[in-house]
Amino acid sequence: MGVTSTIGNLFCQIRLLLFITVCAMIVGWFGFYVKDSTHYFPKYRTQVDNSCKCLPSSEKKLEEVNRSPAVVEETTQHEVEAKICPMLSPQLKGVVPLTFSPNLNLEDVQKKYSMVSNGQYQPKTCRAQQKVAILIPHRNREKHLLYLLDNLHPFLQRQQLHYAIYVIHQAGDVKFNRAKLLNIGYLEALKEENWDCFIFHDVDLVPENDFNTYLCDSEPKHLVVGRNVTGYKLRYEGYFGGVTAMTKKQFAKVNGYSNNYWGWGGEDDDLRYRVEFQKMTVVRPSVEIARYTMIFHTRDAGNEVNSQRMQLLRKASKVWKTDGLNSCSYNLLSIEHEPLYINITVDIGRPHH
Ligand SMILES: *[C@@H]1O[C@H](CO)[C@@H](O)[C@H](O)[C@H]1NC(C)=O
Ligand SMILES: *[C@@H]1O[C@H](CO)[C@@H](O)[C@H](O)[C@H]1NC(C)=O
Repeated sequence: MGVTSTIGNLFCQIRLLLFITVCAMIVGWFGFYVKDSTHYFPKYRTQVDNSCKCLPSSEKKLEEVNRSPAVVEETTQHEVEAKICPMLSPQLKGVVPLTFSPNLNLEDVQKKYSMVSNGQYQPKTCRAQQKVAILIPHRNREKHLLYLLDNLHPFLQRQQLHYAIYVIHQAGDVKFNRAKLLNIGYLEALKEENWDCFIFHDVDLVPENDFNTYLCDSEPKHLVVGRNVTGYKLRYEGYFGGVTAMTKKQFAKVNGYSNNYWGWGGEDDDLRYRVEFQKMTVVRPSVEIARYTMIFHTRDAGNEVNSQRMQLLRKASKVWKTDGLNSCSYNLLSIEHEPLYINITVDIGRPHH
């Protein structure tokens, strides 16, 4: 008799335990459901909340419901954070035909890439290998910029990068200074985010093959081996212009670009010298991959060939430590966060000579 009563007691306890478990599961499931609908369909949130408020014994239930979603959200976000995207994204397609539609306008491009906001994007399912800032020096090339944005955004997204596109816009009509604009882009971008890697990118070059990854390497990387306009051959041995990738550290180590190259040419060779002075080597992807299409244009007014570039290059070894990031002075006129890029407009002064 004593034994039966103990067993009966035990059954009672198990049943109670089961009941509590089922209750907990229902509350948990409800919490998960609410979290899901609020997360993916924000407009449902008010609806769900309102219905909860109508329940009679609302106080405690609401508290529980509200607490569990927070926990769930933390874990999913945590899971994404923990999973690093692979070096080679599974979404790469290789050569994708480029489009340069003459009727293209900014509104259409913005609609196409509505997943980009404030010029920035990051993958949804994993944490990007590196945080990459693309810096594009610019003046009077709106059409080229539009073509580049239209082709570059999907390219970078297939590469699963966390990236932002910065357009550094030289105000006024003093001679163009690409190198100084890139120094400014670097300095200003770092005020917004601790970028790991910088891509210094001409506005008229569009990458053809998405295996040409916009990630930085252990050495400075040159990404343009070939362009359609030169039969896809390297312009000359040592060429380090067009599109290059350097880590935050590598660029700081060489004191950035020289600020003294006004007009076209020389500044990219100067940067290569700096890289060599610091015992680094330029690396390149293979010829098959590092291919670009150059959007046709005539040389812009205000960007005439710099006739002093040879003299400047000869002085590079003596001046690089005092001419660069540490001496880059400018007047910031505006920073506008457009949907597809960040527009940094600067007054960079004028040549001293
Ligand atoms: C390079 O491609 C651009 C864009 O398609 C085109 O306008 C230009 O004519 C091409 N240049 C050469 C030399 O093929
Ligand atoms: C960048 O901003 C300046 C100043 O507002 C403006 O004049 C220029 O057109 C803008 N450029 C681009 C490409 O948005």
